[in-house]
Amino acid sequence: MTVHEAAQIVLRDMTSDDVHAAAELSFEQVWPHREEDWAMFLSIGEGVVAELDGKIVGSIIGWRFGDRFASIGLVIVTNAVQGKGVGRQLMEAMLKRFEGRTVMLNATAEGLPLYRKLGFVECGTICQHQAISPAQPLVPLRNGERVRPMGAADGDALERLYTNASGMDRKLILNTFQAEGSTVVLCREHEQTGFAMLRRFGKGWAIAPVVAPDVVGAKALLAHWLGMQTGSFCRIDIAENSELGEWLTEIGLPEVGRVTCMALGPAPVPGDAATVFAIAAQALG
Ligand SMILES: CC(C)(COP(=O)(O)OP(=O)(O)OC[C@H]1O[C@@H](n2cnc3c(N)ncnc32)[C@H](O)[C@@H]1OP(=O)(O)O)[C@@H](O)C(=O)NCCC(=O)NCCS
Repeated sequence: MTVHEAAQIVLRDMTSDDVHAAAELSFEQVWPHREEDWAMFLSIGEGVVAELDGKIVGSIIGWRFGDRFASIGLVIVTNAVQGKGVGRQLMEAMLKRFEGRTVMLNATAEGLPLYRKLGFVECGTICQHQAISPAQPLVPLRNGERVRPMGAADGDALERLYTNASGMDRKLILNTFQAEGSTVVLCREHEQTGFAMLRRFGKGWAIAPVVAPDVVGAKALLAHWLGMQTGSFCRIDIAENSELGEWLTEIGLPEVGRVTCMALGPAPVPGDAATVFAIAAQALG
């Protein structure tokens, strides 16, 4: 990029009309996001695009969770324009909107240097597991436990569980994903102790998020959806320390990649009512 071109970079708000061009950016990176996935992410957040000569060459979307937290994702600069400061401009524009909040993101290896320079600190690893789901063995439930479809009366309990487990307000994600996909609830003696959501994403289906009291509960929830989706492409993004990685690989869903969780500001403090075993999406956290 020449000095002349750099001067022509214009940042502006992303609108729903930009979804097609923004999706082209992720296709170029061989990311799986469909236009529908972009539209959903934008509908619950706020985006900025970078334009050069009226053509979109960069993107970023951010999401607010309650008053104290936010996350950033879908940070992409088209290959031909990388390394010339556009990524930094997009990040600085979004961080300005989120001043006063802790900002979280999941960094690719390409993004890490930029985020480190902006002050983000590593706080974990997310492992991406995926494959065509093979037939699943049932995971035995413990006494008094069962997995059942979500009912209208479960909403508040699931919101409490997810918010407690993630340490931040997750109502927005819960409501949006519920409307888009299907949810099963893990119960013990009629009390909701976990849940797992299934929605269309990328090349197939994402089982996300998965919130459970322990790893046995998480396996039961995952096995439910994997069994239902036998023969379909399924993706799950788990925390490295979730103790699910080996099991997922054994049952036919190998790890295909990793991203680094990073935070700018004090990280959220999860409660002890449940644990987030699989995140909602790499972009959202
Ligand atoms: C990550 C990405 C958005 C960065 O955008 P960009 O426009 O290329 O980045 P910039 O030119 O603004 O560079 C940002 C900073 O990182 C630095 N940087 C980039 N790569 C680096 C490396 N390998 N080592 C050290 N520093 C590096 C640059 O020097 C620059 O620092 P400066 O602002 O202090 O000069 C872009 O590379 C991209 O789209 N990659 C593919 C998609 C992707 O992985 N996105 C991240 C998702 S989390």
